[in-house]
Amino acid sequence: MFICFEGIDGCGKTTQIKLLEQYLSQLDVRYVLIREPGGTLAGEEIRSILLHKELKLSSETELMLFIAARAQMVREIIRPALDKGELVLADRFMDSSVAYQGAGRMLGMEIVERLNRFAVGETRPDITIYIDVPVLEAVSRMRKDRKNDKIEVESLEFFERVRNGYMKLIEKEKNRYSIVDGTEPVEAVQRKIRKIVAPFLPNDRLNRR
Ligand code: TYD
Repeated sequence: MFICFEGIDGCGKTTQIKLLEQYLSQLDVRYVLIREPGGTLAGEEIRSILLHKELKLSSETELMLFIAARAQMVREIIRPALDKGELVLADRFMDSSVAYQGAGRMLGMEIVERLNRFAVGETRPDITIYIDVPVLEAVSRMRKDRKNDKIEVESLEFFERVRNGYMKLIEKEKNRYSIVDGTEPVEAVQRKIRKIVAPFLPNDRLNRR
């Protein structure tokens, strides 16, 4: 089972994944959490290039690096875990490149979708949980978080394009997404996420509680 989380920066994804991890641990469910572009040795090297402040990467380069890290992650970690019947949780996956590089950086959603298909082959998330927060709300959260300098680096219009990119993806493939309203209190959002995930967990674990 492969479950992926998506959303714009400031949507609360990281907090929600942490809470879900607590739930899975309580139930003794084994899982693998992945976070691109790191996670594999090659991915960590790619990540250091992406984060290197002195390298002025073009949007095209940035896209290829995310795609390269993903191709490695799929073969080295995701497929082996899925083959063993393990639960894989992803903090972002292919849709992030479509929304951020395709729509946000305006490279075109279609080309990113093609590159993604090449990179991941048949390996796709079974469910994608999209945590939806309007851009203004997300940006005000990012401003409150002093460690987060994204809003100084990126413009409001950038995040608008990213969110619109996600909306287009969801519109195209409604069945693949579960949308959760991220403006609700943290606990309420978590309850909804657990409800979405629960049917995919081993039955004996759920009955034990
Ligand atoms: P995020 O998971 O929000 O990390 P953090 O909570 O540590 O800020 O994502 C990191 C950034 O990487 C985010 O701005 C989105 C960006 N990103 C892309 O632009 N393209 C991609 O393909 C991926 C996976 C992430």
